[in-house]
Amino acid sequence: MLKGKKILIGVCGGIAAYKICELVRELQRENATVRTVLTPGATQFISPLTFESLTGVPAPVDLFKPFLSEIEHIELATWPDLYVIAPATATSIAKFASGIADNLVTATFLATRKDVLIIPAMNTGMWENPATQKNVSLLRKRHISVVEPEYGLMASQLEGKGVGRLPDQPIIVSHIYRKLWQKKELAGVNVTITAGCTREKIDPVRFISNQSSGKMGFALAEVAAAMGANITLIHGPTHLKPPTDVNIVAVETANEMFLATKDNYPTNGILIGAAAVSDFRPDVISEKKIKKENAASVIPLKQNPDILFELKELRKQSVHIGFALETNDEIAYAAKKIASKGLDFIVVNNPSEKGAGFSVNTNKAKILFPDGTIVDLPLMKKIELAVEILKKAMIIHANL
Ligand code: PMT
Repeated sequence: MLKGKKILIGVCGGIAAYKICELVRELQRENATVRTVLTPGATQFISPLTFESLTGVPAPVDLFKPFLSEIEHIELATWPDLYVIAPATATSIAKFASGIADNLVTATFLATRKDVLIIPAMNTGMWENPATQKNVSLLRKRHISVVEPEYGLMASQLEGKGVGRLPDQPIIVSHIYRKLWQKKELAGVNVTITAGCTREKIDPVRFISNQSSGKMGFALAEVAAAMGANITLIHGPTHLKPPTDVNIVAVETANEMFLATKDNYPTNGILIGAAAVSDFRPDVISEKKIKKENAASVIPLKQNPDILFELKELRKQSVHIGFALETNDEIAYAAKKIASKGLDFIVVNNPSEKGAGFSVNTNKAKILFPDGTIVDLPLMKKIELAVEILKKAMIIHANL
């Protein structure tokens, strides 16, 4: 997603500064080129040497002792595709709002004409103070993106929980994707995605399920959001954090997933079934925990609704995409699914291939079209596969 992108991170003096090291690494894993610039306050929390070691280039701090160029803040201001300030402290935010350029981070902010993303992190009282709130709203009025800090355990044990935490890394990366995805090709398009597993209760403590983590479906939601779509993400039980600004519907059973998908059917949009839906559920759910001595050795099952099959009927001006999870004869089985579920294409993946299928961050897929065309994709990150899928969906949607 971030291949070839240049990201400058301005690190300010807050305890969350240490979290930026892992952010740098993650952005590099996404193939971005990352540089950092620190306020003098940031060096109280973390050494510039740490960032120099991670990025392989100097992490300048001093406005008057240029490392890389004579007029360092101008060079820094023109270099990146995106200038991310994280953690942004109350003081730095106040300086951004009032145009004070007394260090390299603030001078670069004032000088840059590039896109800026401010990610605040501070004590709850400082965040909620009317002065900070006024500065934040002033910046937003100037169309500068300021991310809301998160609620949670604060640095000081005495403070307990409050608003002001640096958002978790996937949320920051998600904001960065959306900033850097230039064309909003799916602006105004409704996209409904199913993701993860479903759970079918046997009794109050046991269920039938599978290993789907939701990663594939969440990656699709992430990319669709970056492309400007209105997304409804209907997911089964997962430990994943939902992407920001996406309509989330959390469900448990296949039946619930079916009803939610029907309710959120993307008329004139795109429907993607990435969920591993249980095909069957126990015929009867025991109200009490089944005791070993009373347990039957067979659990009678009944069939769940097939979501994509059922929604084929609603389809008029929409694109329908399915997944096929197959361990053998994959193309033949996938071709049958295209026909029976009325799909525009199907993404075939095989969980017995290394790096493919459940829970991992990568996938290896073939995309099969109704006319028999196969696009054989190499092993790639799920987020990259999501880009491939959505680009194809977008072309079909544009030609409806
Ligand atoms: O979540 P991850 O850990 O990232 O794993 C990703 C994944 C392996 C789950 C994903 O890539 C994947 O293959 N999803 C589909 C799994 C599946 O159930 O395949 P299937 O061949 O049984 O189903 C075919 C299609 O029909 C799928 O699009 C499925 O969502 C849909 N289906 C299936 C059953 C059902 N009752 N209703 C459905 O809509």
